Amino acid sequence: MYVKFNPSALLPLGLLVGSAFSSPAFPQQQPLGQDDISAAIRIHSKKPPVDAESLAATIKTKNLLDRAKDLYTIAHISEHEYGHPTRVIGSLGHLGTVKYVQQVLSSLGGYYTLGEQVFPAVSGSVYEWKLVLGHSDAHARPMSLTPPTKNKDTVFGNVVAVANDGCSESDFGADVKGAIALIERGNCSFGQKSENAGKAGAIAAVVYNNEPGSLSGTLGTPQEHHIATFGIDRDHALPVLEKLKAGKEVDGSAYIDSVVNVIRTKNVIAQTVLGDQDNCVMLGGHSDSVEEGPGVNDDGSGSMTLLEVAVQLTKFSVNNCVRFAWWSGEEEGLLGSTWYAEHLSPEENKKIRLFMDYDMLASVNFAYQIYNATDAEGDPKGSEDLRNFYIEGYKGLGVNYTFIPFDGRSDYVGFIEAGIPAGGVATGAEGIKTPEEVEMFGGKAGEWYDPCYHQLCDDLTNLDETAWTVNARLVSKSVGKYAESFEGFPERTLDTDEIRAAREESKKKWKYRGKKLIM
Ligand SMILES: *[C@@H]1O[C@H](CO)[C@@H](O)[C@H](O)[C@H]1NC(C)=O
Ligand SMILES: *[C@@H]1O[C@H](CO)[C@@H](O)[C@H](O)[C@H]1NC(C)=O
Ligand SMILES: *[C@@H]1O[C@H](CO)[C@@H](O)[C@H](O)[C@H]1NC(C)=O
Ligand SMILES: [Zn+2]
Repeated sequence: MYVKFNPSALLPLGLLVGSAFSSPAFPQQQPLGQDDISAAIRIHSKKPPVDAESLAATIKTKNLLDRAKDLYTIAHISEHEYGHPTRVIGSLGHLGTVKYVQQVLSSLGGYYTLGEQVFPAVSGSVYEWKLVLGHSDAHARPMSLTPPTKNKDTVFGNVVAVANDGCSESDFGADVKGAIALIERGNCSFGQKSENAGKAGAIAAVVYNNEPGSLSGTLGTPQEHHIATFGIDRDHALPVLEKLKAGKEVDGSAYIDSVVNVIRTKNVIAQTVLGDQDNCVMLGGHSDSVEEGPGVNDDGSGSMTLLEVAVQLTKFSVNNCVRFAWWSGEEEGLLGSTWYAEHLSPEENKKIRLFMDYDMLASVNFAYQIYNATDAEGDPKGSEDLRNFYIEGYKGLGVNYTFIPFDGRSDYVGFIEAGIPAGGVATGAEGIKTPEEVEMFGGKAGEWYDPCYHQLCDDLTNLDETAWTVNARLVSKSVGKYAESFEGFPERTLDTDEIRAAREESKKKWKYRGKKLIM
């Protein structure tokens, strides 16, 4: 049962603020005078100095769950427009989330200076779709940011298998014109395949998986020639390919009703007035969800952990500055964090000693996963130290851990590319839990870590309280430790041409841009 929510009760300041792009200068502070800041510093510096253990001791499961409930209520503000709760960018549920974070932060007695950064973001919605190949439903998933089929109507044509991987225009023969192009996954992005198919005159494109499992991804930044594009699993493609190979004709129909828009959205930043302002520990989670659901675990769990830690930190004084970020547009391809990292001046860049990403901390079939960031693979120096800190942190909390690839799936990418050491932990998304992991963590083998990942059921029942509490303690330890001292942590190195070149090189390893597969 849902009682109609009155957004204006929660959001007295009004929702629709920030109509101009803010200047990239950072932090863009609210009009707090130097006198106000000095007064806040005087008050808060009398508090006991923070350390990892004392901050971790402030974490209460109930506080985390209460914040999750607030967030879920806010997600319902979108129901009128979306028909279900969501906090996708551009929705009232997302605006409400941002406002909620800002309101909590601005009630903390000037402990933080608040900044916000407005930026343009591409946002898409897919309302309905259907793909029939031969005479059967192909169980397709539309790619994110796909354009609709012509006139948002069903289109009919022959199915044509594209040669090779569809990464080159020459893979598309003349028979693709007016047809549904069937393309194997691999070697280049889905966006590239869609664009090539569009240029060749296809009426829709279908990418089939080159490994077991269903295929869903994003086309990425819209291009002129993108056409309506689906992903399907291999099992649904093989019978069609066989028929085509035998010289038989296969016809099909495709339908996508979708829109792609550019909207303005914003990151929220909070920085302690206390502490060395030239040496900051930074951490972030994302404020948005996917359109399909309310995103209580993804990333309500991370973003609300940050908020709770930000509130609890005000009981202490800090030696180094702490900067929290709530990113927008993560689900559309890490847009907010990338925008932020790319717009740092060299001086501001150097002040960030490390960035910690906290995305999905309470999956119900969880594993304690540490991003395997290593200095050896060109990740900025310090990334491995952070990884080792998490190892010790989990050991100290008496739990097992695993390493997972540092492959581009969350908001650390922009920081790594900007030369800033980064890392983080997570509890797992659509990956499958192994029997070994069941011995280490409990839970169910053969099932997703988060069975409601990117779905409507990512609601209040989709949280594991134990995992969330353990991770919130780990997050507070990470903040407490580096807010107390950077002793032993590598200094930031100068951003030389050589380092920039290494970074360019490291870009190639990202298989994802955010949660969405791009190739
Ligand atoms: C991808 O490229 C490799 C190397 O060029 C090639 O062997 C492979 O067949 C390509 N994949 C597809 C789907 O064509
Ligand atoms: C972590 O990264 C290191 C360095 O690249 C690699 O040697 C190691 O095998 C990785 N460990 C796991 C579990 O992925
Ligand atoms: C850690 O994993 C081992 C199996 O690898 C298991 O025996 C042990 O009970 C686990 N520890 C905890 C705290 O779950
Ligand atoms: Zn996420």
